[in-house]
Amino acid sequence: MMNKSLLTILLSVGIACATQPTTFSLSSRKRDDSGLLSRKRNVQPFRRRDLAPASIPLLDDFRGTDLEWFGSIQVGTPPQNFTVVFDTGSPDLEIPGKNCTDACANQNLFDFDQSSTFLVTDDGNGTFIEFATGGDATPFGIEEWSMTLVQVADTISVAGLSVPNVTFFLISNQSQPFSADPYDGILGLFSSPGSFFQGLIDQGLPALVSFYITPNATGDAELTLGGIDSSKFNSTMIFAPLVDDGSGAWILNSTAISVNGKTNDVLAVTTEMIFDTGTTNVFLPQNLTEAIYALISPEIVPNADEPGAYGIPCDQVDTLPAVIDFTFNSVSGDPFNLTIPSSELNLGPFKGNTSLCQTVFNSWGNLTIPPVIGGSLFKHYYTTWDSANLTLGFAAI
Ligand SMILES: *[C@@H]1O[C@H](CO)[C@@H](O)[C@H](O)[C@H]1NC(C)=O
Ligand SMILES: *[C@@H]1O[C@H](CO)[C@@H](O)[C@H](O)[C@H]1NC(C)=O
Ligand SMILES: *[C@@H]1O[C@H](CO)[C@@H](O)[C@H](O)[C@H]1NC(C)=O
Ligand SMILES: *[C@@H]1O[C@H](CO)[C@@H](O)[C@H](O)[C@H]1NC(C)=O
Ligand SMILES: *[C@@H]1O[C@H](CO)[C@@H](O)[C@H](O)[C@H]1NC(C)=O
Ligand SMILES: *[C@@H]1O[C@H](CO)[C@@H](O)[C@H](O)[C@H]1NC(C)=O
Ligand SMILES: *[C@@H]1O[C@H](CO)[C@@H](O)[C@H](O)[C@H]1NC(C)=O
Ligand SMILES: *[C@@H]1O[C@H](CO)[C@@H](O)[C@H](O)[C@H]1NC(C)=O
Ligand SMILES: *[C@@H]1O[C@H](CO)[C@@H](O)[C@H](O)[C@H]1NC(C)=O
Ligand SMILES: *[C@@H]1O[C@H](CO)[C@@H](O)[C@H](O)[C@H]1NC(C)=O
Ligand SMILES: *[C@@H]1O[C@H](CO)[C@@H](O)[C@H](O)[C@H]1NC(C)=O
Ligand SMILES: *[C@@H]1O[C@H](CO)[C@@H](O)[C@H](O)[C@H]1NC(C)=O
Repeated sequence: MMNKSLLTILLSVGIACATQPTTFSLSSRKRDDSGLLSRKRNVQPFRRRDLAPASIPLLDDFRGTDLEWFGSIQVGTPPQNFTVVFDTGSPDLEIPGKNCTDACANQNLFDFDQSSTFLVTDDGNGTFIEFATGGDATPFGIEEWSMTLVQVADTISVAGLSVPNVTFFLISNQSQPFSADPYDGILGLFSSPGSFFQGLIDQGLPALVSFYITPNATGDAELTLGGIDSSKFNSTMIFAPLVDDGSGAWILNSTAISVNGKTNDVLAVTTEMIFDTGTTNVFLPQNLTEAIYALISPEIVPNADEPGAYGIPCDQVDTLPAVIDFTFNSVSGDPFNLTIPSSELNLGPFKGNTSLCQTVFNSWGNLTIPPVIGGSLFKHYYTTWDSANLTLGFAAI
């Protein structure tokens, strides 16, 4: 059965597919300088009608552990409602179309015949994507997590902010594990040309996306487009310079990882880290994963049944100190830490072995993919992406 982090990393389609040249990948559509230029241009005063910031509530898909945060969007004319995961790890929207009958039976289907603004923009070849799972054995291209897509265009709205004729993807078939999700699709928030978020920026919305991601018991989670909801935190927001690879991903350089105040030669290295709201926990190269666990407890071991996942007997996990500090430099060059507290270590029992509890760090194996950090950290920081100034801001909550 499902690893408690599987659900998550499959949402990082932009990252995953970039390494998988044999499939049609969503991310292959855009990775050049034009994204950078169009974002830099937005630093100038707005020339068009300015849109005001707007927020929507997010719900948490909680299944014993917090998995994904999702909210409502509208597609088409007149608008049809869908729920999506707002994903800072990918560029595009995917929702089920009405052609996806059996495989999407639990989800809302887009009835494109009812939308006066709908267009099919596919060249007729279709698009097939496969998602990463983080496992070592079949790291990418695992058939268990795949979708068949048709490229289309229509009006997309979030929180009353609307962009006409956005290119997106209708799901016409999907593998079985997706059908269990309580949301319909995924909305990638990269600001690549032609994307929904870039469409809002072009209409004068300030180039900000903010997430208030909370544990299920706290509730009140929120997405704000175009601004920062300062009612959600009392601390000072610290901004750090993005590593700009032109894709619109949220990437920072980390200078060190510390575990319970200690670091070492493996962990005290500069490495890029991807901040992905579509990822539940944390994925790291195997060397970093094992170096972190070695400083927490020798009892944390790989679970052979779930490649990439680690665990420890459940009767030991809640007693362990496991404070993880990721160190970054702010825009003014001052170091600061983002901290995952000990309370995040325990993801609960594995389905296949209920005396073994899964731990928060998953391994990419030896793939050269940077660390990807998700909800385990976002639950502790109000986070703002400023895609005009190319910074990420964090305020402790
Ligand atoms: C908490 O989780 C349950 C089960 O997934 C869900 O129905 C509920 O909406 C969640 N609450 C919040 C505030 O997200
Ligand atoms: C969409 O959801 C909103 C509330 O989120 C509701 O007011 C509206 O009636 C819904 N529209 C449809 C077509 O279901
Ligand atoms: C839906 O299925 C019909 C019938 O097979 C096909 O003609 C049409 O192109 C499909 N449309 C989309 C958007 O997938
Ligand atoms: C489909 O893909 C093939 C091979 O990449 C390409 O030659 C063709 O132009 C594409 N479009 C259509 C409509 O077949
Ligand atoms: C929508 O975009 C497509 C290209 O994706 C273009 O062919 C079409 O003319 C556009 N339609 C409108 C109404 O702007
Ligand atoms: C849908 O995908 C599944 C594999 O996930 C495949 O077995 C099935 O044949 C596909 N259905 C269609 C209609 O293509
Ligand atoms: C911020 O501080 C004020 C005054 O102490 C308090 O009323 C408010 O609830 C705090 N807000 C948050 C988000 O913690
Ligand atoms: C990130 O680190 C790389 C390699 O050390 C460096 O070239 C780049 O300038 C750094 N970028 C930022 C924004 O710190
Ligand atoms: C970050 O955390 C490490 C390890 O706990 C600590 O040594 C360091 O002083 C912290 N840095 C800052 C700027 O707080
Ligand atoms: C990764 O590399 C290390 C060191 O070479 C090796 O021990 C380990 O088995 C490799 N991991 C995988 C999943 O191949
Ligand atoms: C850890 O492994 C990754 C590849 O998985 C490699 O790029 C990196 O240099 C390694 N780090 C150290 C400190 O050896
Ligand atoms: C972004 O940069 C502009 C100057 O280019 C500055 O006025 C503004 O305060 C910055 N925004 C944030 C959130 O730091």
